[in-house]
Amino acid sequence: MRREVTPLEKRYFSLRVFGCQMNAYDADRLRSAMSAKGWTETDDEDKSDFVLFVTCSVRDKAEQKVLSELGRYRAGWERAKRPGVALLGCMAARVGEDVAERFPWIRVVAAPDSLGGVPDALEEAYLNGSFISVKGAPRGLSCVPSPRSNRHKAYITIANGCDQFCAYCIVPYVRGRFESRLPGDILKEAEQLVRGGAAEITLLGQNVNTYGGDFTGNLSGYRFSNLLADVSSVGGLRRLRYTTSHPSDFTDDILDVMRSDSRICPGINLPVQAGSDKVLREMNRRYTRGQYMDLVRRIRDALPEAAITTDLIVGFPGETEEEFEDSVSLLRDVRFDLVHTAAYSPREGTPAAKRADQVPVRERARRLVKVNGIQTEISREINERLVGRTFEVLLDEPAPRGEGLLQGRTASDKVVLVSAPKEAAGTFRMVRVTSSGPWCLDGELL
Ligand code: SAM
Ligand code: SF4
Ligand code: F3S
Repeated sequence: MRREVTPLEKRYFSLRVFGCQMNAYDADRLRSAMSAKGWTETDDEDKSDFVLFVTCSVRDKAEQKVLSELGRYRAGWERAKRPGVALLGCMAARVGEDVAERFPWIRVVAAPDSLGGVPDALEEAYLNGSFISVKGAPRGLSCVPSPRSNRHKAYITIANGCDQFCAYCIVPYVRGRFESRLPGDILKEAEQLVRGGAAEITLLGQNVNTYGGDFTGNLSGYRFSNLLADVSSVGGLRRLRYTTSHPSDFTDDILDVMRSDSRICPGINLPVQAGSDKVLREMNRRYTRGQYMDLVRRIRDALPEAAITTDLIVGFPGETEEEFEDSVSLLRDVRFDLVHTAAYSPREGTPAAKRADQVPVRERARRLVKVNGIQTEISREINERLVGRTFEVLLDEPAPRGEGLLQGRTASDKVVLVSAPKEAAGTFRMVRVTSSGPWCLDGELL
């Protein structure tokens, strides 16, 4: 039955965000769009009329976490028919309507390419209790993410989707085809964000290096390096970052722009995924170990201060012990600052999931423990060498642990904890590193 609402009736929503930075950006935009419609965000789910789940499908664990959390709303729904849940993002694209059948409190389902229709759908679901599966709404949301989760930093998605089809990966199926956003729109957004207080912007795409490859007409020939140069020139912007780079598309013009502009931070995430040529080929990664090592050398020659991080999957189907050891030796050869490791997780519908030669789950777990142990030592050694040095740090938010500590980042994206008043958040300070661990540095304000 349709409800009558007075214009002054407050409607509350909460946001639960899972997965990668693209989801953080989508959540920031949803936050803006919902506020524009008169909704108020709250951390208190008991007060919420709707809880928006922005979900991830990259590994089974990411989906299981959401499924187990969704169960928590049963009692409230049976008692008072609230809060309703909106299942949004990558998991909604993959299994949204099936999941909604299991959990009747899911009233809205929308894939990443239909988020533009979510605010209206929520309004409708709130007013008349209907179930809405949003389809064909404008891709993304057109508003600038103004009330953000972090005032000093902002994300901008520069390209939606992915066309790479790595054999293990669900992203191209849930995020759709690669499509670059127009440079004019990105620049306008960057200017608005900086005016709103953002000191640092991170440009996002699943493969930022192919940005512009789909442009025709006037814009053909406009590449990622052009965008970097244009965005970094936005007046008032202090730091520009980007992620993710694909090793086979990372070209030297990007290094040239980075070298000539100190606002572009020397931190590069360059996912390698495996150290064996056979596994790389079967993953459809389009580069060899030798080509990857050559790129790392070029980056380090051009930007000696650059921190290079990577993503690595262990236990891809058919990965032998020897091929796994190739990944271990690659970690030792490159000495990354940080590695995001994952045990391979079969994703239904991807080519790798169909293979008969899956590595047993326990063996994948053993390999994961091994690479994590080795990389922890490497990261610890790299960070130890930074003790005594001074860096400019953007102080950011209270550290998750430790009274009176603020967390910040160096230009190369190292996490630094310093004792500083809360009011220092959002400022750039010179910090001397006093001690270090594998994941972060401790420092003192100068
Ligand atoms: N576009 C980036 C790239 O090319 O690496 C990252 C995309 S993905 C969202 C983030 C990371 O999740 C990947 O780098 C990969 O290491 C990991 N990943 C993706 N699919 C996976 C799977 N099926 N099992 C385990 N890890 C996976
Ligand atoms: Fe997935 Fe590969 Fe695309 Fe990255 S580049 S999102 S790993 S398909
Ligand atoms: Fe997950 Fe979708 Fe990002 S699958 S990692 S939230 S693109």
